[in-house]
Parts: sequence; structure tokens; C-alpha cells
Amino acid sequence: MPIIVKSRDEIGLMREAGRILAETLEIIVSHVRPGVIEKELDEIARREFKKRGVIATFLNYGQPPYPATICVSVNDEIVHGIPGPRVLAEGDIVSLDFGVSVDGYHGDSAVTVPVGQISEDAERLLRVSQQSLDDAMEVMKPGARLSDLGSAVQRTAEGAGFSVVREFAGHGIGRALHEPPWIPNFGEPGRGPRLLPGMVFAVEPMLTAGRPEVRMLDDEWTAVTADGSLAAHFEHTILVTENGSETLTRIAGSH
Ligand code: MF3
Ligand code: CO
Repeated sequence: MPIIVKSRDEIGLMREAGRILAETLEIIVSHVRPGVIEKELDEIARREFKKRGVIATFLNYGQPPYPATICVSVNDEIVHGIPGPRVLAEGDIVSLDFGVSVDGYHGDSAVTVPVGQISEDAERLLRVSQQSLDDAMEVMKPGARLSDLGSAVQRTAEGAGFSVVREFAGHGIGRALHEPPWIPNFGEPGRGPRLLPGMVFAVEPMLTAGRPEVRMLDDEWTAVTADGSLAAHFEHTILVTENGSETLTRIAGSH
């Protein structure tokens, strides 16, 4: 399946979706503190999306249909945590994952943030995970090879003593949330198709402080680390431009 190159109009819609995502993500992050309930964060996201007239991509996505507006994954939860009655506590780390569409075009973005004061080890995991995404974005330009992205993530993650999750990957994004290509967060550089201006990728490294193996919970969505170690997840939707890249899900001063 070919990688779809977006038209100027399509990019305009994705830019709009990305801007709204960045805006609402900052609002949700500002509500993260000890004592907040996961479901409250989901409720705020639902309200903010509604206010802006955008459609939540994740609600009812997939099989079984995803039951919430955003994903909230705490501590050893890697991705796709379903917001529930859990109260966030001082020292937790929480991943927040968001998707919206504007006129049928999607944006997808995630961030992992501390709840109150966290351990130095947790802080380092967040820092390195964010860095691994920045490093992948750095290699995104016309002519680069697709596997250069995952290779950059893996180098940064493993160089710092962390592991990279294999079961989940980044993806093309546009009219569908998940489009070709699949973008693993590991591998040799210099493989796969060359990037062209107009391609849009959701790049989303998932790192663990321990081993990389994943276990699925009975809800059929939540992925946790098999060894119970902490996990972090960062994601941006990024456009390949003529001379580099443009992060569609970032606004001035945002994550
Ligand atoms: N960023 C995640 C992904 O691409 C979000 C999907 S949540 C889902 O897998 F509910 F939509 F699946
Ligand atoms: Co994604």
C-alpha cells in the first residue's frame, strides 16, 4: 500500500486538527494533579472538543469499540488505558493520548506528564522518551528513509538504558487515523521508502524503564508492561515539508 501524499487543502484541514489538539492537550495537562480522577480528564476533553466542533477520533474506534474520548495510561500502562474511576496520586506518571478529526482529516498526539512530584528515575524516563521523539522528528525530511525514524528512537532510548515497545508503532495519518506506513520505533537506518513532501506521520515512541514486553488487560485495550516497570508515550502528527518537517500538533509554548 502506497504512502498517501496530501494535497494543500488536506494539509490545511490537518493543520487545523493539529492546532485544536495542541490547544486541548494543554488544557487537559493543566488539570493533571494529585486527586484528579481519570474520567474527569476524559470529560474535560469531551467538552473541549465539542466546544470546538471537532469529532473525537478514538470514541468507538476499533474492535471492541474504544469506550472513551481520550486514552489515559498510568505508570506501568503503556497505551490505550481507558479512563476510569482511578484517582491520580502524587508520584504517578500519566500518558494522555488524543485524536480529533476536522472535515474527515485526523490529528493524533500524546504526552506523558508527572502527577505532582515524581522520582528522579521517572523524570529521566519522561525526558529521554520526549527526546527520542524529537530525534525522530529531526531526521524527517525529503529523501530520508522511513526506517531512519525508528532507528533514531531506538538509539536514544537504548542509549539511556531504556527499552522500546515492539507491539505498537507510529503510522501514516490522514483521512484514516491509521494509514500506511507502519512506523516501528526500532530498526536499522537506511531502509524503506524515501520520504516526500506532503506525507504526514504520527510518530509515537513508547519506552519502558524495564523490559520491552507487553501484556494486555482483560478490557482488550489497555497495554501494560509485562514486568510492571514504568512506561512513557509521546506522539506528534508531523508533515514532511520541502526542507524538513512541520509538527502539526504543536503550538507556540505547547508540549
Ligand atoms: N495514538 C494511538 C494509536 O495510534 C491512539 C489510538 S486510541 C484508539 O494507536 F482508541 F483509537 F485506538
Ligand atoms: Co497514533
